[in-house]
Amino acid sequence: MKKLMVGNWKMNKNGKECAEYLDAFLEKYSGHREAWIAPQALYVKLVINSELKAGIQNCSEHTDGAYTGEVSPRTFREMGGHFVILGHSERRQHFSETSRGLNAKIRTALQEGLTVIYCVGETLEQREQGLTLSLIGDQLHQGLNDQTKATLENLIIAYEPVWAIGTGKTASPAQAQEVHSFIRSILTAKFPSFGQKTRILYGGSVKPDNVEELLAQKDIDGGLVGGASLKAKDFLALCGDM
Ligand code: PGA
Repeated sequence: MKKLMVGNWKMNKNGKECAEYLDAFLEKYSGHREAWIAPQALYVKLVINSELKAGIQNCSEHTDGAYTGEVSPRTFREMGGHFVILGHSERRQHFSETSRGLNAKIRTALQEGLTVIYCVGETLEQREQGLTLSLIGDQLHQGLNDQTKATLENLIIAYEPVWAIGTGKTASPAQAQEVHSFIRSILTAKFPSFGQKTRILYGGSVKPDNVEELLAQKDIDGGLVGGASLKAKDFLALCGDM
C-alpha cells in the first residue's frame, strides 16, 4: 500500500489561497504517495473538485436534524467528501472532546461511508509519568468499542503526541515506532482480520527533513501534517515529489 500524507489545514487559508495552493500542488504531484487534504470545511468543495481526496476536521454524531452549527457526515459524503479527522488534540483540548464521546461520531461517520482518521496521543506530562501506552490504550478502547466491524476497514489511526504538535519537536523515529507498534498490537487483538492492515499515521511536526526516517519505520504508514502541509512546496516534498 502507498504511504499516505494527510494535510490538516486547521482554520487556515481563504478560498483564493486554497485554489492557488491546489493549482501549484497538482502541477507537480506524481501520486508516488497518496495526498489527502482537510481544508476549512467552508472550502472543502475546492478539494473535492480536484483529484485529491477531501476531508473535514470534525463532524456531528448525527446525520441530520436540529443540531445548529453542526456539519453532517451524511451530507459531506453525498457531496463527494472522503474522510473526517476525529479526536484531534486541539478538539480534545479546546472543545472538551473525550474518547467516549468520540465513539458516537466515529460510528456515524463510518456508517455513512466516510473514512475516519481517529487521533490519539499523550501530553508531555503523561509521557514523563510513564503513562503513554496506557493512555493510548484507553483512547483506542473507548473510541473503538462496539463499532460495527464491517465499517472498520475504513478506519485510520493517527498517533499524535500532543507535545509534538505545532512545536517543532518531533518524536524520534524510535519513540514513534514504539507507540505505533503498540497501537498495531491493540488493533490486531481487537480486529484480527484487518488490524495488521489498518493504516497508522504519525503526526507532530512532520517536515521534509524528518519525514523519510519516520516513514522508514515498520508501523508508520504515513503522516498527518499541520504546519508543513500549508505550503504546496513542502507538502510536495512530504509526498516525495521535490
Ligand atoms: P503540525 O500539526 O504538523 O503542525 O505539528 C500536526 C497536526 O496537528 O495534525
